[in-house]
Amino acid sequence: MRIGLLGVGRIGATHARLLASHPEVTELVLGDVMPERARDVAEHLGVRAAGPIDEVFATPLDGIVIATPTATHADLIQRGVDAGLAVFCEKPVAADLARTVEIAQRVAAADGRVQVGFQRRFDAGYRAAREALRSGAVGTLHRMHLLTADPTPPPAEYIPLSGGIFRDCHIHDFDIALWLTGQEVVEVYAAGANRGASLFAEASDIDTSVAILTFADGTLATLQGSRYNGGGYDVRTELAGTESTFVVGLDDRAPLRSAEPDAIYPSGEPWADFWQRFSASYTAEMNAFLDFVAGRRSSACTVSEALEALYIAEAADRSRRERRPVRVEEIRASSPVKGLKHSAVLA
Ligand SMILES: NC(=O)c1ccc[n+]([C@@H]2O[C@H](COP(=O)([O-])OP(=O)(O)OC[C@H]3O[C@@H](n4cnc5c(N)ncnc54)[C@H](O)[C@@H]3O)[C@@H](O)[C@H]2O)c1
Repeated sequence: MRIGLLGVGRIGATHARLLASHPEVTELVLGDVMPERARDVAEHLGVRAAGPIDEVFATPLDGIVIATPTATHADLIQRGVDAGLAVFCEKPVAADLARTVEIAQRVAAADGRVQVGFQRRFDAGYRAAREALRSGAVGTLHRMHLLTADPTPPPAEYIPLSGGIFRDCHIHDFDIALWLTGQEVVEVYAAGANRGASLFAEASDIDTSVAILTFADGTLATLQGSRYNGGGYDVRTELAGTESTFVVGLDDRAPLRSAEPDAIYPSGEPWADFWQRFSASYTAEMNAFLDFVAGRRSSACTVSEALEALYIAEAADRSRRERRPVRVEEIRASSPVKGLKHSAVLA
């Protein structure tokens, strides 16, 4: 398979490394607006650097991986689909709702092949939790808790372009909540604080987040997040039902220390970042994309599914700004097109 990759920054370089070592990838071409970056990574991996974006698109390819900043995703997805390529795009699909809805429509109309990068769907713990819900091991789900906490914030220049903590970071929690439960979220009540550097407030963003999510059947979920979690990289999800409670992310490397005098668990070296915590998921995600390119499987996450997570992120952001509970329907109704609800995630 011939694969192009755009954006060799934090996540793009990781995807490039995975693709370069995959036996089915016969050609890998890297592009970046900073061509020297593409050259450096290509040299290191022993693959080809095209430099500018146009040169990547001018290369005969089977698939393209988009790992550029969020604001560029929609245009590049469009270019990939227009070129008839299978497209992998990092989350989120776009920084704003109107553009996400537009691109979801265009991809659907063109029968475009796109996989959006929600790697938690490939995590062994999340997969086991989903199975526990489906098999009845959890029983009737009564409540859920979602947590995503980064030990340190991303680079300062990333924040103003990120779309804010709900669209950039918690979009993973929103997607996985839908994927785990197969249910719609109908209401969000969110709050936030700026406890760290003032650059968050200057970007109208927050570094500490909480929210209450209400699912269609009345199940409640709480959400917490931080860009400054001193203990380490903490991603956990708790599913509590009438039969049992399952926790994703409660392993020996969970960045927690029990206050109980005799407790010895967890005691491992705390997860430091998402690379460590989700390393196996990123590999499985790229392998799934290559299966998708080869026509061996369908998209692991369509643009329409990614749009569902963004509706919730939008509701959370509006709720936090306006200090009121926001119905997701309010966001859906205010978006330019309705009725894009997809069956895959809600089935
Ligand atoms: N799934 C995950 O866990 C995860 C983790 C980190 C980042 N992300 C997503 O990946 C995307 C990139 O994030 P990052 O942290 O790697 O950013 P980054 O700033 O480290 O890297 C972005 C790279 O893209 C290049 N670039 C900028 N505009 C470009 C363009 N138009 N065409 C080609 N290259 C361009 C930059 O020069 C840079 O090398 C973001 O959308 C982010 O939300 C996802």
